[in-house]
Amino acid sequence: MALLEILHFPDPRLRKIARPVDKVGDQVRQTVKDMLETMYDAPGIGLAATQVNIQQQIIVMDVSEAKDAPLCLINPEIISQEGDEEMQEGCLSVPGIFENVHRAARIIVKALDQNGNSISQQAEGLLAVCIQHEIDHLEGKLFVDYLSSLKRERVKKKLLKQQRQEQVPHGSASQQASVI
Ligand code: NI
Repeated sequence: MALLEILHFPDPRLRKIARPVDKVGDQVRQTVKDMLETMYDAPGIGLAATQVNIQQQIIVMDVSEAKDAPLCLINPEIISQEGDEEMQEGCLSVPGIFENVHRAARIIVKALDQNGNSISQQAEGLLAVCIQHEIDHLEGKLFVDYLSSLKRERVKKKLLKQQRQEQVPHGSASQQASVI
């Protein structure tokens, strides 16, 4: 097990596009374990491989209150979506920033699990938001891309300043609950 380094916006590596996983073997399972450990340690409720500089289509999540329900999706693909939901989002790669984002309210995602089996999962609420946010990461997209360019520039300046001062801010406890 190992803690992985989480990249921070505006690191250009967050814009890389992840490749599909060909074979779910021990190496992928080890990556999943390390990603879960890194996510719980951060703490966050979701993490995409892109955020730890691994360009493979792997995401991990745990939206349970007890933090005892890890979920891993490999090669995730949203096959249906409906409705609209606005939720405040944060991101481990954009520390200290919380903004409202509109996403589909209900989705069905197909993916492979850690054993390489095909699964299909229905999701709504926080889990649906989390899955969409993480799949965006695999496509090199961040939640700040949904903001106006003016707001995004402000976020960028703020983060660059924090990075110079090596300060990693944390939100309030309620905000931390939605860091994905
Ligand atoms: Ni994120």
